[in-house]
Amino acid sequence: MPGHRRTRDNGGGGMILGPVSYLDCIVFCIFLAPQLIWNVGLLPTIKCILEALPFVLFKIPIQFIYERWLSSSDKSPFVRKASPFEDFVIRCVRYAFANIPPKIGRVFFSKRVALPFLKFRMLRHGYLRSPMHWREHVTANFRGIWVIKDPLATPDFVLYYAHGGGFSLGSAYFYLEFLLSWASVLSSSGFKNPAIFALDYTLVPDASYPTQIQEAIEGYRYVLKVARDPAIVCVSGDSAGATLILSLLLHLSCKDASAKRYGVGLPMPGLAVLISPWTTLVSSRHTNTTSDYLNAEQLSTYGKQFAGNKIKWSDPLVSPGCCHDAAWWRRASPSNGIFITYGEEEVFSPEIHDLIARLNEAGLRVGSEVEPGGIHAWPVASLFLSTAREKRLKGVNGLTMEIRKRLSTSDAAKPR
Ligand SMILES: *[C@@H]1O[C@H](CO)[C@@H](O)[C@H](O)[C@H]1NC(C)=O
Repeated sequence: MPGHRRTRDNGGGGMILGPVSYLDCIVFCIFLAPQLIWNVGLLPTIKCILEALPFVLFKIPIQFIYERWLSSSDKSPFVRKASPFEDFVIRCVRYAFANIPPKIGRVFFSKRVALPFLKFRMLRHGYLRSPMHWREHVTANFRGIWVIKDPLATPDFVLYYAHGGGFSLGSAYFYLEFLLSWASVLSSSGFKNPAIFALDYTLVPDASYPTQIQEAIEGYRYVLKVARDPAIVCVSGDSAGATLILSLLLHLSCKDASAKRYGVGLPMPGLAVLISPWTTLVSSRHTNTTSDYLNAEQLSTYGKQFAGNKIKWSDPLVSPGCCHDAAWWRRASPSNGIFITYGEEEVFSPEIHDLIARLNEAGLRVGSEVEPGGIHAWPVASLFLSTAREKRLKGVNGLTMEIRKRLSTSDAAKPR
């Protein structure tokens, strides 16, 4: 079995684990329970579980059965194409996003749950250690995880990644399996020594803006130093992480000396590829859809909490979609432009669509791919929820092809 799995990997010395199994789900809960009790307390944990039980045991299954098998007309575009497992998990995530307080939710995605879970999944697939080297990088100003194929050689491509989670949830560790898979795909695509730096920024409410952008800038400075050439750096992120990345680009290129901007004078990266960016923190164009698991009210609460009280939540430096200045966007553009992938059915879809049109008009080299019937951050979620390998890697493969295409026209992808 382990040998069998290994041979399914690419020739690039990477690691792409198989789909999440029911055993994985049980093991995840075993790692989660003590952390919930430890971080949240026994009584609040029990309260949260008791409140969720009627939904998980009755309401969600009944809706699930009704929508999937009994009604022929009420199916949402996502449900029409989702497998039962994908559908069921997304219903639970939708419930959790609307009802579980972030201080409980963040434990689900924390290092202490995500790291043992990844190690369990690796062992189950016969890996004692990852063929892609990775280590934590912690300084006084920022922290993150550094992933590289060969730690002794210089990288020929660096992806700088900021994770999603509404600024209140998520960790670089929760994304590590996704990023190790992406690094493997990058390696098979022809990069000799691809690297990824995953920023672990401080979550709300431990801090709000500008802490996260300051950390993002310091992380970027570090990535530039390791990469040696800004043209081989591709900035990336999903959801709130993509907000941070767009915000970073606007900060680097902000000309208004009276604004509290960070990182001015640093070189622009070679490229940006974004997954379901939360372009505008608070927008009347965010409305619930039947497919997506995000909801508009919760998002605007998260958005306002992130902006905090040091900046208006409509300031482009914190909410990039509010930037309507074409010249500023042209200065903010990486040398090989911006590529955005998102789902047609997601709450953010109208705002993302708008931003892409605006960047196009401003003359940027912007490309996009919209997934019909798609929901928020599906390239990340499907790696965990889908079964077939092509489906699980579809998002990452598409982004990698775009990276290859755009960087091969510059000096970056030439052998060094
Ligand atoms: C959007 O969805 C959330 C959670 O399901 C719900 O609380 C809210 O009332 C919905 N908003 C609208 C405008 O329907």
